[in-house]
Amino acid sequence: MFDLEKLVRKNVLKLNPYSSARDEFQGQASVYLDANENPYPTGYNRYPDPHQLAVKQKLAAIKQVDVANIFLGNGSDEAIDLLFRAFCEPAVDNVVIPQPTYGMYAVSADINNVAIKSVRLTADFDLDVEATLQTCDAHTKLIFLCSPNNPAGKSITPAKAEALIQKFNGLVIVDEAYIDFTNHPGFVPLLKQYPNLVVLQTLSKAWGLAGIRLGLSFASAEIINVLNKIKPPYNISILSQQVALEALGKEKQKHDWVREIIAEREKLAGQLKALPHVLEVFPSDANFLLTRVTDAKGIYQKLVDKGVIVRDRSNVLLCENCLRITVGTPAENQILIRELSRL
Ligand SMILES: Cc1ncc(COP(=O)(O)O)c(C=O)c1O
Repeated sequence: MFDLEKLVRKNVLKLNPYSSARDEFQGQASVYLDANENPYPTGYNRYPDPHQLAVKQKLAAIKQVDVANIFLGNGSDEAIDLLFRAFCEPAVDNVVIPQPTYGMYAVSADINNVAIKSVRLTADFDLDVEATLQTCDAHTKLIFLCSPNNPAGKSITPAKAEALIQKFNGLVIVDEAYIDFTNHPGFVPLLKQYPNLVVLQTLSKAWGLAGIRLGLSFASAEIINVLNKIKPPYNISILSQQVALEALGKEKQKHDWVREIIAEREKLAGQLKALPHVLEVFPSDANFLLTRVTDAKGIYQKLVDKGVIVRDRSNVLLCENCLRITVGTPAENQILIRELSRL
């Protein structure tokens, strides 16, 4: 049986969290003399809502979850770091990371002095459920899945991820940063079924807001409470909350961008495949394409010389001679294809 209390670090369980001025008084008042702010209005002289209620209410309606199931972080990277700090005892616990994947899980593990147990994805970048389970031991607290996967762009087969969630007694984190580019509903609808599931999403990709740093985590109210307990009190600025609120009111704009980016991705994949130095273009559910080329380092440098920057992933497991190319505007993609054609 899954028992969250057994999973949380003892010091976090016992922690008396910081109580901010905005925690202690939450109503409306005419005179605020409680937070040592500057009283003169600049638009930003007051601290932001530490609970980000307005943004969460909007997200709750869009994602069909309760406000209590949402945690907002300074990018997904903050949630990833807090998951380590909440659940992994440094130098004792470990996490399992199917590779290749987004690099921050391993960096966060290293920062927190938590051992990493790597396991390979299959050659077509899917989850090997048995190998992943066999990699776990009594000290494994978290498993990080990334779907659609970075750097390949492939979604994990949902039934495989679900099998892992069912069989593992720690937390399974499913990072869905690129979920808007798929036609899969993702794992948020399964939250009620699985108390050990955490889903990460972000406003950095389809919503076009990488600059405001807003990561979304969805999980049981109990898990969200643990993250709220240890987060810095005012982790999301007023500016980020305002911009997020406005953008979340324009879902159609996001849908239009997603439709256009997917159409461009497919067009770009076709054009890349026709080039002699492109050996393979991996199928992608995301806003980027992983391509195997004849000479990744050489081609990367020649593109840099022309002012076109892609990502050289050739040192990453299973990605020998691979470049990862973000889908840009039609004009940007045309420049990329033009420069590649000239090589
Ligand atoms: C899988 C994955 N998760 C998370 C992130 C970062 O998200 P955020 O901007 O919310 O920190 C990235 C960024 O590239 C990513 O590829």
